[in-house]
Amino acid sequence: MRISSPHMNIIYKACTKASKSLIRDFGEIENLQVSSKGPGDFVSSADKRTEKIIIEELLKAHSDYCVITEESGILNNENKERKWIVDPIDGTMNFLNGIPHFAMSVAYEEKKEIVCGMVFNPITKEIFFAEKGNGAFLNNTRIRVSKKKFFKDSLIATGGPKKNSKIKNLIFDEYIKISNILDTSIRKYGSAALDLTSVASGRLDGYWQRELNYWDVAAGIVILREAGGYCNFFEEGKQNPLKCNIIASNSLIHKEFESQILKKNIE
Ligand code: IPD
Ligand code: CA
Ligand code: CA
Repeated sequence: MRISSPHMNIIYKACTKASKSLIRDFGEIENLQVSSKGPGDFVSSADKRTEKIIIEELLKAHSDYCVITEESGILNNENKERKWIVDPIDGTMNFLNGIPHFAMSVAYEEKKEIVCGMVFNPITKEIFFAEKGNGAFLNNTRIRVSKKKFFKDSLIATGGPKKNSKIKNLIFDEYIKISNILDTSIRKYGSAALDLTSVASGRLDGYWQRELNYWDVAAGIVILREAGGYCNFFEEGKQNPLKCNIIASNSLIHKEFESQILKKNIE
């Protein structure tokens, strides 16, 4: 693989190591103990095991870097300049149901800018990665966003709402509004990281979602940008980067996509 920076290499090594236990856990899915992490949000022992391996590897390389994680919170919080951002399994619900559509998502951020990231599906063996300025890749192949120009013809994915969401009506209204505009039907795959890499590789033309966490999207963002796509946060997400609402696209449909999402009423 065409990995050129040391940071990307560290991420690749950490994910490769963690993928072994994740593949094993996926094979033994029925034996996994699932514990409740609050309403509508389940966490499996595989999430924790995978995260532990990834964090150990990242900290082995740079013990002073901050690590923002889904399962273990924020480590080395005093380091504001250099941060790893880790989601050990994005798509846990798919994982727990034996659906091989989930991925480890790990990014590196320096001075508030995402510099590189990897979204690694251990089952399909699809490894998406990008380093700022070096393009985006799926395994050994360079990827690019689609060339679709008209929003109406686009294939768009979304996700949510979570079970305990307080804005379910808003999310469903938005879904109806967008589905009334599109000639295609909206997709819902259950992994934000893989939704972003699908836009990056031209499988999808766009994706939007509210109520995400930064670790769901950090790696996907740099991959999308390096593939020629565009994404931005909107509304609440602008104030608190750890909680975000995102619109992502091939960039050609972005203006119309965004203006439709931001329109207040169902027409
Ligand atoms: C979830 C996935 C899902 C999205 C949820 C996320 P998790 O992450 O990205 O697609 O709809 O909002 O929480 O819990 O599987 O890491
Ligand atoms: Ca996630
Ligand atoms: Ca997760």
